[in-house]
Amino acid sequence: MENDKFPFKNKEIIDFKPKRTLSIAPMLDWTDRHYRYMARQISRHTWLYTEMINAGAIVYGDPARFLLKDECENPVALQLGGSEPALLAQAAQKAAEYDYDEINLNCGCPSPRVQKGAFGACLMGEVDLVSGCLNAMQDAAPDCDITVKHRIGIDRQTEYQVVADFVGTLRDKTACRTYIVHARNAWLDGLSPKENRDIPPLKYDYVYRLKQEFPDLEIIINGGIKTNAEIAEHLRHVDGVMIGREAYHNPMIMRNWDNLFYGDMQPEIAYDELVQRLYAYAQTQLAANRGTILRHMARHYLGLMHGLHGAKVWRRMLSDADLLKDSRPELLLEAWAAVERGLQEESLS
Ligand SMILES: Cc1cc2nc3c(=O)[nH]c(=O)nc-3n(C[C@H](O)[C@H](O)[C@H](O)COP(=O)(O)O)c2cc1C
Repeated sequence: MENDKFPFKNKEIIDFKPKRTLSIAPMLDWTDRHYRYMARQISRHTWLYTEMINAGAIVYGDPARFLLKDECENPVALQLGGSEPALLAQAAQKAAEYDYDEINLNCGCPSPRVQKGAFGACLMGEVDLVSGCLNAMQDAAPDCDITVKHRIGIDRQTEYQVVADFVGTLRDKTACRTYIVHARNAWLDGLSPKENRDIPPLKYDYVYRLKQEFPDLEIIINGGIKTNAEIAEHLRHVDGVMIGREAYHNPMIMRNWDNLFYGDMQPEIAYDELVQRLYAYAQTQLAANRGTILRHMARHYLGLMHGLHGAKVWRRMLSDADLLKDSRPELLLEAWAAVERGLQEESLS
């Protein structure tokens, strides 16, 4: 099904160099290809990240399972987890074949499983190993940007110098020029991954200071950012803002980002147009017979109507096991019709 709107190849539409002014954070189980497809319908310019994929899973498993993406997703980054340069290099090479624009190394995840594999946030204590990893990835994928996502420290390290030394060393020893900084520590002892996203205090000033001290680097700030006003404020100090949870629970926050932050004056997408595109996408995915069921897609759409009168009915219908069991893509249209009825009632009352 090819028409002027679906599916579009984003690379052909963006006629200037894509930028990481805004990006959607890598989120395990959340930013899969179905979420990213939806996000791309809402914003053409926002940079997207995959979930973290273990390098070994790509090299020893089925690369297509982990790397398959839609052409419209670009600009898109693959986030890798791992700490073995040779393995990361092989995974990076595969990612380049699948047309990812960027390959990002996770140095920020605190989960015990990741610590056991000696990667994620604990890599912040092993900067020489990180530089070996980044160099191996860059050699294997010379046309991709190789980047890092990290914290401002691990455990109870509180000094700014910890993150400054990490970034400074990598700047000197690698070609990495983009640093995505989740502006809080990872406490590796005793906090769950979820608590590690909320409890260690945010220190945005550390990230601003990195930009001042390393003006030649692209510094992206992340952590706890929820509104366009907050984004605009951060952009006065750093090159880009990465948003995680808010963009998942309220994806329509992205609807005016092209306009506000990229200067693209195309009209923002209307809800009914978006639902039509998601319906067409679901039809194609289900027809492809690759084991995708409607729930795999619909679960990412639950927050789409956030703030609208019909949000509750939309969520209820798209998470109802009985309604989902036959995987009929029409359920999306029916849920939207229920939202529209709610909106009409609201305007009449
Ligand atoms: C469900 C979930 C999964 C996440 N998975 C990853 C991941 O795979 N890789 C990573 O670097 N960060 C991961 N994160 C952290 C986010 O990328 C981000 O750094 C964090 O949520 C803070 O940003 P926010 O406050 O805008 O959500 C995850 C966060 C959530 C909520």
